[in-house]
Parts: sequence; C-alpha cells; structure tokens
Amino acid sequence: MKIKTSILLFAFCCCYHFFTAQEVELLKNWKFSNYDYGAAFQENFDDSNWDKVTVPHDWAVKQDFDFAHDVQLTMVIQDGETQPRYRTGRSGALPYVGIGWYRTNYSVSNADLAEKVQLLFDGAMSNAKVYVNGNYVGERPFGYISFYFDITKYLKAGNNSIAVRLENFNSQSRWYPGAGLYRKVSVIKTNKTHIKTWGTFVTTPIIEKKFAKVHVDLEVLGSGNYTMVNEIISSDGKIVAKKSKEITLHQNTKITADLEVKKPKLWDIQSPNLYKLKTSILKDDKIINTYNTTFGIRKVRFEVDGFYLNDNKVKFKGVNMHHDLGPVGAAFHKELFIRQMKKMKEMGVNAIRFSHNPPAPEALDICDEMGILAIDEAFDEWQIGKVMNGYALHFDKWSKKDLSDMIVRDRNHPSIIMWSIGNEILEQYRKDPKDITGYLNKIVKSLDTTRATTAGFNSSVGALRSKMAHTVDVAGFNYKPGIYHQIRKEYPNLKFYASETGGAVSVRNSYKFPVVFDTLHNKRGNSLNTKVYKDGYPGNYETTNVPWGYPAYKEFAALEKNTSVYGEFVWTGYDYLGEPSPYHDAKSRSSYFAPVDFIGLEKDKFYLYQTQWKKDKDVLHFFPHWSLPDTMKGKEIQVVCYTSFDKAELFINGKSYGIQTKKPIKKHSYENNSIAKPASGGGNWDLFKAYAIVWDDVIYQPGEAKIVAYNKKGKQVAEVKRVTAGKPHHIKIQPELKSIKNGEVGVYIVSVLDKNGNLCVNYNKNMNILVNGAATFLAAGNGDPTNMQNLSKPTRKFFNGQAAIFVKSNKKGIVSVDVKSDQLQQVNSSLIVE
Ligand code: GAL
Repeated sequence: MKIKTSILLFAFCCCYHFFTAQEVELLKNWKFSNYDYGAAFQENFDDSNWDKVTVPHDWAVKQDFDFAHDVQLTMVIQDGETQPRYRTGRSGALPYVGIGWYRTNYSVSNADLAEKVQLLFDGAMSNAKVYVNGNYVGERPFGYISFYFDITKYLKAGNNSIAVRLENFNSQSRWYPGAGLYRKVSVIKTNKTHIKTWGTFVTTPIIEKKFAKVHVDLEVLGSGNYTMVNEIISSDGKIVAKKSKEITLHQNTKITADLEVKKPKLWDIQSPNLYKLKTSILKDDKIINTYNTTFGIRKVRFEVDGFYLNDNKVKFKGVNMHHDLGPVGAAFHKELFIRQMKKMKEMGVNAIRFSHNPPAPEALDICDEMGILAIDEAFDEWQIGKVMNGYALHFDKWSKKDLSDMIVRDRNHPSIIMWSIGNEILEQYRKDPKDITGYLNKIVKSLDTTRATTAGFNSSVGALRSKMAHTVDVAGFNYKPGIYHQIRKEYPNLKFYASETGGAVSVRNSYKFPVVFDTLHNKRGNSLNTKVYKDGYPGNYETTNVPWGYPAYKEFAALEKNTSVYGEFVWTGYDYLGEPSPYHDAKSRSSYFAPVDFIGLEKDKFYLYQTQWKKDKDVLHFFPHWSLPDTMKGKEIQVVCYTSFDKAELFINGKSYGIQTKKPIKKHSYENNSIAKPASGGGNWDLFKAYAIVWDDVIYQPGEAKIVAYNKKGKQVAEVKRVTAGKPHHIKIQPELKSIKNGEVGVYIVSVLDKNGNLCVNYNKNMNILVNGAATFLAAGNGDPTNMQNLSKPTRKFFNGQAAIFVKSNKKGIVSVDVKSDQLQQVNSSLIVE
C-alpha cells in the first residue's frame, strides 16, 4: 500500500516553467491565552506574555483531569432515564469550557494585495470569531466544520495581525470535543481570477473497461476571457487526459469540462487507485491559477440486497471513530490518524463512520489512499438538543451552510460513499413534524446525487413509522440486531445497515469472575442487570454492556442471517475521551467500548473481529492471561479462544482439557418479533460459543496454559501459550516505527516483563519518563479509563503491565527515551528522525 506524498503535487507544479499563482501556507507562530482579554482582537494588542503554541493545538488536553470540569445534570432518554441525574467524565473531565484567544502575524507584499488572500480553518473548537488587523472578519459556531474567509480587504503591506476568539460552553458535548485551533489553519493566496476554494466537483458518469467519462463542474471567480486547461494525471505521474477551452467569466461562473480516461484503473478497497485533476486558468498563455483535485474512478450502487462497489457486493466491516487521537487529545496529527487506520485495517476494517461530525480533511485523504470506505456525518443534534449548549442552538441559522460546506469540501473523495445528515436525532421521537429529514436530504441532493444519504436511527419505531428512515436513501440503525428480520418483513424495500453495533465494555487484560451474563431485560429488551464493577474495570468476557448494547457475536449472528443488511459499524474502533458509560459517577474519564484501547493496544475482542473480518488470516488468541490473583487458584473458570482454526486443544501444565470446536447456534435468542422491542439484552454462552472455542470448568492453576490448533484433518497447525509471570525483571521500550519524519509524532509501547519475557500483567506502578535527542516528550497514556494523571506530564502508571509514550520530533537524529519505575530502568535509542 502506498501513501502518496506532496512530491506528486510538486511534480505537477514543475510541469510548467512559469509561476503558478496559488500558494497554500500553514499559519505558524501562534500565541495563546486562556484569559478573555476584551481587547485581544486589536491590531497592536500586546501578547508578549502569552504562551507560544503550535497549531494544531488542544488547550484542554494538557491540563489536569478533574470531574468538577464536566458535571452534567442530564437525562439521557436513550438510556431509558426518566429523571435528570448528575454525570461526570462525559466530556472527558478536561477543562475545555471557557475562552481561548489565538494570535499570530502574517506578512504580505504590495503585490499580494492586488491578488486574493483567504484564511482557511480546517476546524476550530468552537464559536470562532476571526479578526484581521482589529477588523471583525466573520464567525463560525460549529467546531467541526471547515470554513474560510476572503481577508484581502483587511490586509495591508507588511505585518498583519490575525486574532481568533474561541468559546466553549459547559454541556456543549456528549463526548470530549477538544478545545482550540485543533486542526490546521492556512492562508491561500491566489490570483483575483481563481477557482473557488472547494469549487470543483469531479464525477464519473460512465465507467467501462475501455474508458471512463470524467465530468467536471467548476466554479470560477473573476471576470474576463481566459483559457482553461484540465489535465488528468495518473498515480504514476502521467497525463492521461487533457482538454482546453476558452472561457468567459462574469464574477462567479459555472464551467463544465468532460474528459475521457482510457482503461481506467478503478479505486477499490484492495487497490485504492487515485487520479489527480489539475485545472489551470491561463491569460495570454501564462498560468494565473491552478487547482488540484484528487479523485477516484469507482461505481457505487445501493440495492435492497446490499451495497455494491464496482459491481461487487461489499459488506461493511466498519467502525465508528470520534476525532480524538488518544493522549494527544483532539489536536490533529496525520501520522497518528494513519496509526489508527493501520490498526483498524489489521483488524479487518473496510469502512469508517466519522461519528458524529465532519473529520479533519486529511483523515479523508488517508481513507482515499488506504482504501477505506467512509461516511461523512454532519450532526448529532437538529432542533432538539441532547445537551444544554449543543448544536441545537445553532441548527436554524447554520445547518444549511454547515451541511453544504461539508459536502462541497468532501465530495471528490472516492472513499466517501454516504452522507449522514444526523445521528440519533431526537426528532425521531416526535415523528419529525417539520420534515427536517426531507429538508436536509434535499440540501445534500442539490449538491451531490452520486452517493446515498443516510442517518443513524436508534428509535426504530420512531424512524420507520414516521418515514424518516424512508426519506434518506439508506437507513442506519443503531444497536438493533434483534429486529433486522422484522424490519425486512415489514419493509421489504428498505435499504439499511447497522450504523452502531456492540456496546459491551472492557479494559485491556482485565478479567472478572464468575462470568455471569445479564438475563434480565425490560420490555424494550434493554439489559437491566448488567454488571458494573466498583473498581471501574469490566472484564473481557463482556458481562458489562450499556443497557442497549451487547457483545460483538450477537451482531455477527444477525448479519449472517440477514444477508441484505449492508454490514456494521462497531461502536467504536478506538476508545475515546469522554462517555465512560456505564461508569458515570466520578470514576472514569474515557470510554470502554472499543476493541482497541485509548493508547492503541488490542483488547481480546480485537481478535474476535479478526476471525470474522480477516478470513485469510490465521488467528489464534485466548484469554484470560495466566497471571490471575492467587485467590483464583483452584477455582473454575472458562477459557475462551478466538481462532480461525477448526479445532483446538487446551493444556494446563501439560494436562489436556480436550479438543473443542465452535458450536452451531442453537437458537437466535436475541431476536424479537416486534420492531417496538428493539434491544436484545447482553451476552450469552450459546452465541459466544458459536464464535469462540470455549472450555468450561477449567481449574485455574498458575503455570502454563497452552492451546494447540488443528485443521479439519486433525493435523496440528499452530500453538500459543501463556505463562504465569514471575517477578518484574526489566522494562521493554518498543518504538512502533523504526523511523519518523522531522516534525512527526512517534509512539512507544512500554511493557514490564519478567526474566523470561512474560508480560507482568499485574504491574501498575508509576514510571518517570525522560526524552532526549531529536524529540521532546509529548504525552503518555496507559489505557486505564480511571487514570487521572495529566496526559501531558512525563510520569505515568503502568496499567496491567503496559503504557504508551508519545514524543514529538524536532530535528534529525536519534530519539532517546529513558524510563524509570521502582527498581527498573531502561533506555531506548533506536527511533530515528529522518
Ligand atoms: C449511541 C450514540 C453514540 C454513543 C453510543 C454509546 O446511542 O449514538 O454517540 O453515545 O450510543 O453506546
């Protein structure tokens, strides 16, 4: 898989020997203050005592956790609550609330003043007000949307001051929103005559083996007569199509172009082939503006029986992703998003639902480059709010603009297959009398008819009976495996998929005995008796789930049976800051749902997904670890093995517990016969054993647990073992990559091992971290949602034997990381900054 770099872009620019008048420059040298200086917008305001910061910047993530930061008095109807109650940690227990000012300077020449200068924010959290040289330029409340302003008229030759005021409110979000200029800010300089920012739309109306027709819609600003040249460049840098035409512009002019690519290489999950459209505007044979648009040639079809990519039926093996990147918070680092996506692909993921807001634009570039399908989602609230100061306050004034901007910014990405107009919007419960669904759907259709519209519904009855589910092209249902058959029966033509699935919670390397699943459900099918452990560490047998949730295997069973459902998006791919459900009460500050924890380490169910989603991979993984507390000696436990092999045999200290296989499903016990009973309770052994090999009644004794796997013919094909860990002996510091580029973030996984290299899973002591050489310490985490240590301080407890360190490189050379914990010390000097 190759990730393209800007070299290609550079190559495009060099095809011509003369100046190409479009420059995109990142705005740097920012100063920041958390204090609301009334006069900070002024040109000559003295910011000399403000902090110097690097944008992308998240002002809250570097501060101390405190549950007092985000106490919310709220009634979560989705949880079946009928009274408001206090919740903590819901938005990450970090001080994101308040005012943040950012200031920088930008220098322009007299020549620039005759051109156009735009200021582009990829996202600013939130309620941004922008000032140039003391002049108010504009504002944008929505923290996740990209926006830009033409600032030419506010500029003067020489230095110009740029000031941005942001303000976050208490109860603004259901998860950690981040705070500040958390995505990049750039200046775009162009000729007065130029292609509008986000002003190209490439579609491919005809795709055949021999050729593809490429249609381009363009919006051009300026006036006069020019030549426009459109070239399509293949991934190996060849011009594969070219057309010129004379154009006459009147202010804001719509132009079209049609080109043909011979023998097109399709964009697909396995071969994410991309093309680049280079559009140039020429005056008297001189290029005065160019605009590059990356696109792909691929067919998507949404049928009742499934989703088709390039005429092949593709099931969504998807995950939901919130925008934070673990211990660095919301500040966007491309390399950390790539890290996340690599792990997701390793699990077998082929699709991402960006829940519940537009992502950083680079995230979609990466989906394009890595062959990952994507759903862009606009809103989590419409007119009815879920939190006191959420998007509902802005919906009437801004939703049209926000939704439209998301679409025009993103509609050239081949990875995007659907536009989601909302998640679990509360209008579902009131039948959407104003038909907001229809209104938003029309906005999308006016900008793009090549993809499907969708929304994620949690009220199946509400959405289906009110027809909201039918107004969008493809309905998404959250947590409904028990009624797919019923939906299909009552609505034979409905196209739908599972927009959120799962909801069982766990932390890495934690096991709770006895393993007892909840069998008590209310009339909606919600779990009533799910286990909430006082220490905040639910186990990996997944006896704890949110009331509407269930372990992964239930979804597998339902999707196998209901083949027309397009597939699923697990809630979530990674654990994220905030929403520690069901640990709301001053216990935890980050979520527990995902197969990969907050620092990027696999929990057991990562391997369960692999067995389903990576059919070509040999998987053999089992739990629990074999270093259970002494009190477990002689007790009966279940050993669970996630494997792709047919049979397996368990040996404890050499004694066989017999060969076992997965068992056929006896009963689809999670199914309900009414869409009005939508949930289907927690886990159960019957279904568990259909997707895992389980040995019941194993007597735990320290020593060695070994599993030997056999193929159908009974031949031994693989084995895996776990040994009870001895005393902590040394620390292993492992950089995830051998080298990184200057400016990038590097990640180390740190583990405490015994003298034979076994992970000391009970090691939870503190470590001190020292980073030297070509990087500085950035953040650390350990995957424990209850850990309240400041993420940006170089001291961290191990959690169940492991932790992660994030460093930020600042020059070429070698990075050295020195870790001390109790009697142990280790230095690693293997990461190279190139
Ligand atoms: C859903 C919601 C998600 C998240 C999830 C937790 O209802 O759409 O944003 O809150 O529940 O289970």
